[in-house]
Amino acid sequence: MSLIKADVGSLAGHSIVHPKLIEFSKEKLREAKETGLIIDFFVFNAGDDLELLMTHTKGEDNPEIHKLAWDTFVEATSKVSRPLKLYGAGQDLLKEAFSGNVRGMGPGVAEMEFEERPSEPIVVFAADKTEPGAWNLPLFRIFADPFNTAGLVIDPKMHGGFKFEVMDVIENKTVILNAPEEFYDILALIGTPSRYIIRRVWRKSDNLIAAAASVTRLSLIAGKYVGKDDPVLIIRAQHGLPAVGEILEAFAFPHMVAGWMRGSHVGPLMPVPLKYAKCTRFDGPPRVVALGFQLHDGILEGPNDLFDDPAFDYTRNTAQFIAEYIRRHGPFMPHRLGPEEMEYTTLPAVLKKLEDRFREVT
Ligand code: 13P
Ligand code: 13P
Ligand code: MG
Ligand code: MG
Repeated sequence: MSLIKADVGSLAGHSIVHPKLIEFSKEKLREAKETGLIIDFFVFNAGDDLELLMTHTKGEDNPEIHKLAWDTFVEATSKVSRPLKLYGAGQDLLKEAFSGNVRGMGPGVAEMEFEERPSEPIVVFAADKTEPGAWNLPLFRIFADPFNTAGLVIDPKMHGGFKFEVMDVIENKTVILNAPEEFYDILALIGTPSRYIIRRVWRKSDNLIAAAASVTRLSLIAGKYVGKDDPVLIIRAQHGLPAVGEILEAFAFPHMVAGWMRGSHVGPLMPVPLKYAKCTRFDGPPRVVALGFQLHDGILEGPNDLFDDPAFDYTRNTAQFIAEYIRRHGPFMPHRLGPEEMEYTTLPAVLKKLEDRFREVT
């Protein structure tokens, strides 16, 4: 299962993917389905990010699958975004020539290879106006926190716990850590979501892959601010894994994430149905959609638009309360991100400009 995404242009600033981009991408993937390259697909958007969900038998990091996604993004840019002068046409396509894998080229990728179980429920998440570290808190709660996931206590198949692959995106290294034994070590790292990002989760008893997330940080590739990474995440559910409801439960708390306006602010992550996957107030607040599928022989049965439920109204109201509160801080931290994160924006230029006017304290 491959979920590959990019922002290739948006309708009115950074708000939504133009319906014509979605139509165009569907057509491209329909052709690929007819030739047998992919088994099935679902195209959707999270705000201004175009999401290509595909099933196939070619495994992870497959050049043909990655090329299909890359070509779709490039052609959607040249045939739809540019003629319509959509905002940020080709925004996330940071490199010119395709070299076999879209990782490191701008698009975000979450992929996992597995054998379909007798019943295979999947939840696919996509967020806009935030960074990949936004998944750290919910992933920890889903796979390690018994106050979120009752199955960790109740289900004998989950009782052994899960292991997390944590990536250091600055040093480009990964470490595998076990829950619950290394609880505090995991939290010591992933509490810095700008740097340490959970990439994959496995069930410890048999190494069954349970979750895969995108970890691209565009600013680190480009060396400057080019928009937020707007990550994706795939989680398998039920039967020895967290129930769908346990997976969604982790999003009932609208935790603070980096992103929002100009990718430079902190705000609450608000769970929304597809129809509200559009960023408005201060280009946000950051949003997440969740789509449920049942796989059958690679076919994506669904989606079930999981946050399209009044059960999440309270979370949304809380998110709006937090948004209102923190917005009043304007350009002040902690609403605005810290100086390390501002390095990729105009801050270095401001410091440079003022260089000669700084005086030693006497
Ligand atoms: P049902 O009895 O509705 O199948 O639910 C089982 C369950 O485990 C819910 O989390
Ligand atoms: P995106 O990363 O979603 O394109 O948003 C960029 C931005 O600057 C929003 O204000
Ligand atoms: Mg954009
Ligand atoms: Mg976006």
